[in-house]
Amino acid sequence: MKAVGLYKYLPIDLPDSLVDVEIDKPSPNGRQLLVQVRAVAVNPVDTKMRSPQDKVEDSPRILGWDAAGVVEAVGSEVTHYKAGDEVFYAGSFTQPGCNSEFHLVDERIVGAKPKTLDFAQAAAMPLTSITAWEAMFDRLGIDSAGADAGKNLLIIGGAGGVGSMATQFAKQLAKLTVTVTASRPESKVWVNDLGVDHIINHYLDIPQQVDNLGISGFDYILCFNDTDEHWQSMATVVAPQGSICSIVETAGDVDLGALKSKSATFSWEFMFTRSMYETDDMIEQHNILNRVADLVDAGSISTTTNKILEPINANNLKAAHAEIEGRHAIGKIVLQGW
Ligand SMILES: NC(=O)c1ccc[n+]([C@@H]2O[C@H](COP(=O)([O-])OP(=O)(O)OC[C@H]3O[C@@H](n4cnc5c(N)ncnc54)[C@H](OP(=O)(O)O)[C@@H]3O)[C@@H](O)[C@H]2O)c1
Repeated sequence: MKAVGLYKYLPIDLPDSLVDVEIDKPSPNGRQLLVQVRAVAVNPVDTKMRSPQDKVEDSPRILGWDAAGVVEAVGSEVTHYKAGDEVFYAGSFTQPGCNSEFHLVDERIVGAKPKTLDFAQAAAMPLTSITAWEAMFDRLGIDSAGADAGKNLLIIGGAGGVGSMATQFAKQLAKLTVTVTASRPESKVWVNDLGVDHIINHYLDIPQQVDNLGISGFDYILCFNDTDEHWQSMATVVAPQGSICSIVETAGDVDLGALKSKSATFSWEFMFTRSMYETDDMIEQHNILNRVADLVDAGSISTTTNKILEPINANNLKAAHAEIEGRHAIGKIVLQGW
């Protein structure tokens, strides 16, 4: 089967940074589905996993953690899906990625594809939806049914893939007052269209801009970009007894003491935790994706697809990686067809 992979970890402008390869088609075992992949999306995790290092792989390393496709076959213990079902999922960090014609994935982290979306539109959603959902509702403990309506949320990195989903959940489900950061005219238009209440610029003084808006502090802060750079600003603008969740690893230590006087809490969100450790509640990702699909089909939530490249091959994946490495992606870049 066709796949796109890497042997060497190279800068994206080098021809061998991603290559078209032929690999064996796998067979499903246990709770695995074999999915015929119709579309994939690209995330910063792909570019981080591909980033230059000396290591050389003996067999091609396959990246890709967002897919939509059709179940081709199922393992003997599968109970939720059958051949022919249309699905979407992010997959597991510890398994080969989905940039291949056929792909194995555990049914507990797979959702039924939204009926109203095509494969490309659906592939844009799983990884960012799970991340935003877990960050807001599992880590920060925001009520998804609206019991926290009117509370204040700051999203750092509003127009990116995760910010675009978190904004929709915050406005449509939690009914929060949402301030996001965006720095460019086109990203400001994008977040405005998602229904945010206020926009500030992450390259300018965040506490000063928050003060100018007359906001005394945020009950919740979601950091979707550069935790190191924004740490002190977050500590300044979080409300007393407020909560911060970051999804972006730090390069160095951060000063947790800066949160003490406010009794503010900090938590991490890593969307691969449940699948990596096969936690008892791993099936929650199946539930989240099904809930997201229902919200899409009900018209409450929209796909964040912003660009579609065709077909899925090394050249197009390199273009998508280069755009994401530029750090100014808006919504999601998707590839479809083989
Ligand atoms: N922990 C997890 O489970 C998890 C899951 C998903 C993603 N992540 C990580 O979260 C980060 C965001 O992911 P994503 O998919 O949303 O990325 P993305 O789509 O590539 O984010 C692009 C956005 O980042 C904004 N941005 C650029 N520089 C910024 C800065 N200094 N401060 C704040 N915002 C800035 C840009 O806004 P402007 O163009 O307006 O400047 C752009 O809209 C990545 O580091 C990714 O690896 C972690």
